[in-house]
Amino acid sequence: MTDLPVQKRLYIKTYGCQMNVYDSERMTDILRPLGYGVTDSPDDADLVVLNTCHIREKATEKVYSELGVLRRMKEAKAGAGGQMTIAVAGCVAQAEGSEIMRRQTAVDFVLGPQSYHRLPEMIARAHRASGEALAADFAADEKFDALPKSRQPGGVTAFLTVQEGCDKFCTFCVVPYTRGAEYSRPVEAVLAEAADLAAQGVREVTLLGQNVNAYGAERNEGGLAGLVERLAAIPGLDRIRYTTSHPRDMDEALIAAHGTQEALMPYLHLPVQSGSDKILKAMNRDHRAEDYVALIGRIRQARPDIALSGDFIVGFPGETEADFEATLDLVRQVGYASAFTFKYSRRPGTPAANMGAQVDEAVKDERLARLNGLLEEQRRAFNAEMVGRVVPVLIEREGRHPGQILGRSPYLQAVHAEGPANLIGQIVHMRIESAAHMSLSGVLVSAAQEAVL
Ligand code: 5AD
Ligand code: SF4
Repeated sequence: MTDLPVQKRLYIKTYGCQMNVYDSERMTDILRPLGYGVTDSPDDADLVVLNTCHIREKATEKVYSELGVLRRMKEAKAGAGGQMTIAVAGCVAQAEGSEIMRRQTAVDFVLGPQSYHRLPEMIARAHRASGEALAADFAADEKFDALPKSRQPGGVTAFLTVQEGCDKFCTFCVVPYTRGAEYSRPVEAVLAEAADLAAQGVREVTLLGQNVNAYGAERNEGGLAGLVERLAAIPGLDRIRYTTSHPRDMDEALIAAHGTQEALMPYLHLPVQSGSDKILKAMNRDHRAEDYVALIGRIRQARPDIALSGDFIVGFPGETEADFEATLDLVRQVGYASAFTFKYSRRPGTPAANMGAQVDEAVKDERLARLNGLLEEQRRAFNAEMVGRVVPVLIEREGRHPGQILGRSPYLQAVHAEGPANLIGQIVHMRIESAAHMSLSGVLVSAAQEAVL
């Protein structure tokens, strides 16, 4: 892994014991990949960290007087068009964090000794709060932070971006730094675009966002469930999907919508990343494996036939064989219709890149193969279950062979059948005859047969 070139200066002042000296070194290590080089004078620093000691009152007072000096430096820098971020770490921060913020408003954030791994997150949040752009700090990574933007012109399905950015700060991920804070498009703008798409013949929209189920959270606008309800009322718009979601934002209204909104397709991409509580904690996912499994249970109560999809990372730092097996267990418990799997990759500047116990590449390969094997088995079983069933299929286009048409089941499976091209754009019933590797094969069911079903 290569660090970013040194672009910024870090000044750390250490008070107190050896423990603090050690912690200051750790903080320097955490910040180096972000492009921070150490300076020994605060006035040319971009980031000042006071690593404080609470052992005697005098030590605490010293911190406040130092902060007074720093405040003046910060103001002078701001006056000259520059910027300085001030953080208070160590035991004073732990003991009287909010008091510090109250007494000295020049402080951007405080963090106790247990949360040094969150330094990149805290810095990003402070920069966001002051309106500073962050994108330049990181090399954008197409693979992880790009949303599909393409829209098939004239097609019957379309993507519709409703939300961008992420506030979750999973410790492996660059998105919160590259894409910034969560932002939702206003409801009216989304509705207008959806109505326009529907007028052009679009029957299905997939709502996109890095944290799409956090939609509206920052404006308190009825959330994604409210948006889905209003979209479902648009004539012609018969199918609604959304991706990607975070388990934390799966609120009761959205769960209920899966049971009540006919247009909301029974397919949900809900990444869990790992089945080990230890790893979930290190990833800063903010939930345990059992919370996720319970959440899936509630969603299935609302919509028993929902097909689930997920993202998984193998070989996160510190992942043992037992941790990995917990992921396999979770997969067995939940049962997925599809999934995306990744080997953990170190992203400079993210907290996990600095964690010890990085996992061997060969071990990652081996775990990925085992996980993929299990998920593939589940996918096949899910597809095989469809055989003999009659499902509504939205016909999207002609197939590869003459006389063949291609569409999707409610569960996002590709279904092909013999049929006329004038069915494109219609939702027709098909009896599934067989399940192949990537798609299902069906036959059209006539209206008369449908009536009997
Ligand atoms: N290494 C491996 N996988 C990652 N993802 C995001 N960042 C990383 C990383 N550093 C995966 C997560 C996420 C998906 C979009 O990409 O599983 O959900
Ligand atoms: Fe990245 Fe998704 Fe986590 Fe946000 S919720 S930090 S986008 S993995």
